Amino acid sequence: MDDLTPPGDGGVAYFVDRQPRVADFEQAVIAGLRAPQKEIPAKFFYDEEGSHIFNRICETEEYYVTRTEIGLLSDRSDDIRRLAGPGAVVIEYGCGSAAKINLLLDALEDPAEYAAIDISPEHLRFVVEDISTRHPGLRVGGICADFTGDFELPSEAAAGGGAKLGFFPGSTIGNQTPEEAGVFLGQVRENVGDDGALLIGVDLKKDIGRLNRAYNDDAGHTADFNLNLLRRIERELDSEVDIDGFEHHAFYNEGEGRIEMHLRAKSAQRIRIGGETFRFSEGETIHTENSYKYTVREFGELSARAGFAAGATWTDADGLFSIHFLTAA
Ligand code: AVI
Repeated sequence: MDDLTPPGDGGVAYFVDRQPRVADFEQAVIAGLRAPQKEIPAKFFYDEEGSHIFNRICETEEYYVTRTEIGLLSDRSDDIRRLAGPGAVVIEYGCGSAAKINLLLDALEDPAEYAAIDISPEHLRFVVEDISTRHPGLRVGGICADFTGDFELPSEAAAGGGAKLGFFPGSTIGNQTPEEAGVFLGQVRENVGDDGALLIGVDLKKDIGRLNRAYNDDAGHTADFNLNLLRRIERELDSEVDIDGFEHHAFYNEGEGRIEMHLRAKSAQRIRIGGETFRFSEGETIHTENSYKYTVREFGELSARAGFAAGATWTDADGLFSIHFLTAA
């Protein structure tokens, strides 16, 4: 059921709550732990604590993704403004970084609306209130939802304004398989319509050592992010888990073109959830995340199959990261 909160003092025009319930987390964890290769979907990383830890990852020296993308958005702001045109309705899929969305909103000519979609209600509320304070006059709304599933824009969103501009930074597209990414891009194509566009950040294939370091930072924030999934199970579910019995394990799988993150049992372990017990032998893992890397060409082909044409593609001088301005084909 949608919970529509009327505009408050913060000036937020709408807040639609389609947040998956706790039962969805419990069911996904149980289904994932029953599988031969145990797994938990990466979208469950982002509870309030997980979102905070992710921000710490973005500040590490090893994780080049965030600062490189911010540099590109800043360097290309004039091009983005020209390509997007006036009065854009910006739809952000997963609102991660205030720095990025502020750069985009500042670059655009008289943007009409900012509609933020995120799975974490606390984080989403913070972001929409912050943006509405920083950009007076901009219509700002929040949609608490899982945009990786079937996702339609609620009727409150995108009321008036110019063309819709999807914004999907951070290479979050890499957390889906290429097949899922194709489906997702097709859905975004529907959301933005025939005169819409998508500005998307995509991490590039590169030196394997560099990739491995990015997911194994010295300060241990990525390990903390991964292990927070077990803490979340302990916090939210009727469960028993020895968190110290597991460790972070992340590596680049060259054949698949992806970083894989796992939680690896340091010794034989048991996790109990509800009435069910899941056993681990020493070294057995829970697969918690994939982060696919693309070449510019591979991504161009993927987005073309979903109905987008490449308006412009920009990469940094070291060839680490790309941003693509895609127009509806
Ligand atoms: C959000 N996403 C694009 C990040 C990534 O690089 O795949 C999540 C992340 N996982 C570990 N470090 C960062």
